[in-house]
Amino acid sequence: MDALYENIIRPVFFTQDPEVMHEMAIRAMQVVGVVPPLRSFMEALNFIKTPNPVNLFGLNFPNRVGLAAGFDKDAECWRAAGAFGFGHIEIGTVTMLKQPGNPRPRMFRYPSRETVVNCCGFPNDGAEEIAQRLSKSMGRGKSSKKFPLGINIGKSKITPIENAAEDYLFSFNALADYADFFTINVSSPNTPELRRLQGRDFLPNLLGAVVKANSDRAKKLGVKRIPIILKIAPDLTFADIDAIISILDELGLDGICATNTTTWRPWQDIEKSGGMSGKPLFEKSLEIVRYISKVTDGKLPIIGVGGIVDLDSAGKMMNAGASLVQVYTGMVFRGPFFARSLAKSLIWRDSNWV
Ligand SMILES: Cc1cc2nc3c(=O)[nH]c(=O)nc-3n(C[C@H](O)[C@H](O)[C@H](O)COP(=O)(O)O)c2cc1C
Repeated sequence: MDALYENIIRPVFFTQDPEVMHEMAIRAMQVVGVVPPLRSFMEALNFIKTPNPVNLFGLNFPNRVGLAAGFDKDAECWRAAGAFGFGHIEIGTVTMLKQPGNPRPRMFRYPSRETVVNCCGFPNDGAEEIAQRLSKSMGRGKSSKKFPLGINIGKSKITPIENAAEDYLFSFNALADYADFFTINVSSPNTPELRRLQGRDFLPNLLGAVVKANSDRAKKLGVKRIPIILKIAPDLTFADIDAIISILDELGLDGICATNTTTWRPWQDIEKSGGMSGKPLFEKSLEIVRYISKVTDGKLPIIGVGGIVDLDSAGKMMNAGASLVQVYTGMVFRGPFFARSLAKSLIWRDSNWV
């Protein structure tokens, strides 16, 4: 199936605008998601379950491969993720306010480099509308999901950085009933100043506010705290990462997602500005995952993401210390069933790991 995609379907897809193709992919997945017999049929063929689910942050993940944030920004097609082999999905980034994002075109492919550059700037329907959509598709408080649903939240463009915590809190509160875990995104390069939230001046206050809201909610409703993880940029120094880890430790965050896209450009032919994902990002993300695993003695759960474009890179990410991996750009180049192949190969790796 992957070969059919690469040799026949992909050359046709790649003649079209990346965002138009992305929207078509969302619509196709949406159909799978909302037609139960079709979904069940495709899940029977493609949903990959490890004999022993991966337990992380108190959640059971049926396999180690997730769909990274940015694909299903508006929670339109997440239900179909299992039918394509994924063991979890992160929707979003969702912001407090509905916003259009940056003008199009804002997604660019570089096939010879197996990379994508995007400068989307969090186009999304806003936390309230997305909460309503999730409520309709899931049913409030009850869930028939076969895999965990992560909700990735970020800051609205017009919210000043000094008020960022309020923006994240709004989204947290609006979406908490639907999230199996939250990812706090402070690392996308396309929202002005967002990455400053990774620093000591802002991060403790921002994360502290979300952690408190989470504990207050858990007490009030008599439910468990929702796991909260932080998504970081690949362009940080090790000193920056040390500072972040100590904040996560102080506040008792549940894990880290490394990494988002990079602003680094290894070659001049990648001339578009924005966040670069895919193959050239891999070594950076891998190095960061390895570093975090080393300095935390493997105790901080890590979701490894960035440049996983084949089985080998997924295996290396696991060896570096990731417990789960996520993919996005790899799927653009390898096709819709890339997650299925990866999940199967990681099950094989788990059972043969000595
Ligand atoms: C078109 C596009 C849009 C993205 N949007 C988001 C986003 O809204 N929030 C986020 O946290 N990451 C976003 N990402 C980053 C991915 O989640 C992932 O961290 C990054 O692409 C590296 O993984 P990859 O090399 O497998 O694509 C986006 C990536 C792409 C390619």
